[in-house]
Amino acid sequence: MKLKYFWCFIIVLFSCTSHGQYPEVENELDRKVKSFLEENANNWRDMNVSLTDGRILYDLIIENNYTKALEIGTSTGHSAIWMAWALSKTGGKLITIEIDKERYLKAKANFKKAGVDDYIDARLGDAHELVPGLPGKYDFVFSDADKYWYKNYFVAMDPKLEAGGCFTAHNTSMGIGGVRDFLEYIESLDNYRTTFAEKSRSGLSVSYKTAEK
Ligand SMILES: C[S@@+](CC[C@H](N)C(=O)[O-])C[C@H]1O[C@@H](n2cnc3c(N)ncnc32)[C@H](O)[C@@H]1O
Repeated sequence: MKLKYFWCFIIVLFSCTSHGQYPEVENELDRKVKSFLEENANNWRDMNVSLTDGRILYDLIIENNYTKALEIGTSTGHSAIWMAWALSKTGGKLITIEIDKERYLKAKANFKKAGVDDYIDARLGDAHELVPGLPGKYDFVFSDADKYWYKNYFVAMDPKLEAGGCFTAHNTSMGIGGVRDFLEYIESLDNYRTTFAEKSRSGLSVSYKTAEK
C-alpha cells in the first residue's frame, strides 16, 4: 500500500516538473509536437540535447523572432524539433546538417512524426564542406557537431550572420580544447556579446552579434 502511494507521488512530481518545460499549446501543430516530445522524452540516445536545452533554444528563437536558422549536427533531431517548433511560430525555417546517414534518416522520420518537417531542410553531408558553401543570411546558429571544428564553423558563419543574430554552441561546460579555442576567439571579438544559458547542464554559449565588424 505504502509503495503504491510512493509511486503516485513520484508520478505527480515528475509530471509537475516536466509540465513547465513545454510551451503553451495554442493550435493543432503545438499539440502534435508536444505529444511527440512528451512520448519520446526518455528515448533520446544519440548525444541529443536535454529537454531543458531544447526549451532554451526554443525560447531564444521566439524571444528574438528569428527566422533563418542553421543547426550543425542534427543527430536524430531532438534539438531541431524544438527549433522548428519555434520557427513554426516566427514564420521561419531551419537548415540542419548531419554526416551520419542512419541518424539523418531517423531524424527525417522524427520530423515527420512530430509534424515539423515543413519547417526543416535536413541535409546529409560533411558540415566542414557544407557550412562554408551555404548561401544567404542567417539570424540563428546552433553548433553541436564535432567540437574541435567549432571555431571553424563560427568563422565560416560570421559573415553570414546578421547583426542582432545569435550564434549558440553546445557542450561548453565540457572543457574540450576545441570548444575552449572557439570561446576564447568569440569572446575576443568586440562585436559579439557572449553569455551562457544558466539552466543548461551541458553548457550552452549564446553569442549575440551586436554589429557588423
Ligand atoms: C551531439 S550530436 C547532435 C545532437 C543534436 N543536435 C540533438 O540534440 O538532437 C552531434 C552530431 O554531429 C554529427 N557530426 C559530427 N561531425 C560532423 C560533420 N563534420 N558534419 C556533419 N555532422 C557531423 C554527428 O554525427 C552527430 O550526430
